[in-house]
Amino acid sequence: MSLSKKAQRAYSIDDLRLMAKARLPRAIFEFFDGGAEEELTLRENLAAFKRIRLLPKALNDVSSVDTSCSFVGNPSALPMAIAPTGALNFGRHGSDIAIAKAAAALGIPYTLSTSATTTIEDIANAAPGRLWFQAYILANKEKLAALIERARVCDYEGLMITVDLPVGGKRERDFRNHLSFPFKYTPKNVLDFASKPFWSISMLAHGVPVMENIKELKRDNPGGKKLVSTVGKNYDPAFDWDALQKMRDNWSRKLIVKGVMRGEDAERLARMGVDAIVVSNHGGRQLDGAAATMDALPGVVAGAAARVPVLVDGGVRRGVDVIKAIASGAQGVLIGRATLFGAHAAGDAGATRALDILKDELIRSMQLCGVRSIAEIGADLLFK
Ligand SMILES: Cc1cc2nc3c(=O)[nH]c(=O)nc-3n(C[C@H](O)[C@H](O)[C@H](O)COP(=O)(O)O)c2cc1C
Repeated sequence: MSLSKKAQRAYSIDDLRLMAKARLPRAIFEFFDGGAEEELTLRENLAAFKRIRLLPKALNDVSSVDTSCSFVGNPSALPMAIAPTGALNFGRHGSDIAIAKAAAALGIPYTLSTSATTTIEDIANAAPGRLWFQAYILANKEKLAALIERARVCDYEGLMITVDLPVGGKRERDFRNHLSFPFKYTPKNVLDFASKPFWSISMLAHGVPVMENIKELKRDNPGGKKLVSTVGKNYDPAFDWDALQKMRDNWSRKLIVKGVMRGEDAERLARMGVDAIVVSNHGGRQLDGAAATMDALPGVVAGAAARVPVLVDGGVRRGVDVIKAIASGAQGVLIGRATLFGAHAAGDAGATRALDILKDELIRSMQLCGVRSIAEIGADLLFK
């Protein structure tokens, strides 16, 4: 079956997730799907969206609906952007570019992760559009400055600083599955990889991916000799408010701070003059026990006090989730696993399908709510 036919058989993001699961070795799927420790926060993110109920408005003419809006200071076709996700090509060769192209075609921003498996330049060439570069705070400051300069030269519109990863979260599935990058081959994971021959052959044909933008940094797992957690080893846990202020002073384009959960932090960021704040707990991959992002959102919105747009991510799997986020005070959402499941299930067609599903569901849910534009989505839609 062609990939585009396969993609058309998915009617929801969960269908794409199950297709990705069927294609990938367990260790690889669980790296993308899983979270930290007991995955309390991962589950809570999803549950918090599901707890919210809406009160639709009756008898409004919804024959035409407009999803375009202002999103982090510029026009966007939808109130959403792609979240940064590292290591994607371990799921399928070409996944970063597939998602970046799907985002550009739809007219929404795309964020490239520091730990992406595609270079800053290749994304800019393949998918010119609104591009943001997500920077982790590397301990190697010269390398960090060089990455940011490359994003500037390639016309990236925004720099996103992720602040919820001073150290790596404890991702126990990776330990249990013997997953480290580069791979250390053990009888357990070789059997696992061999159980998915299409994935294995594709890995052999294209070569095992590397974190292209940071490949010269000290390897977490030199030569694949040890089984170690590969998360966050090169990052600087001393990064603080003063250091962020310096980044603000040196970057005149959009500065977006991701991983904010508290109102007082949002208040301080608004005073610092950042361009957007993302309420995020890293999709439940960092502090297990962190509040669900939708539960933290109102506090952050209050702290930002309309001086800076607030976005939210973590658990967006339905178009109606976008309405719930905006009704709760966000300007829009970031899409994390939803598009990566699409790309891993069915490549370019799958990434496009994931965004089409979310767009279609958003439009339909807006009509069912009796709203015609993003501006009409307000707190009055929330059932208290
Ligand atoms: C596989 C994977 C890799 C990720 N890599 C990064 C990253 O490199 N930088 C970052 O800021 N966030 C990263 N995140 C977090 C996402 O940007 C986002 O916050 C999260 O996926 C949102 O939750 P959701 O996937 O449930 O929608 C990653 C998430 C996943 C699932």
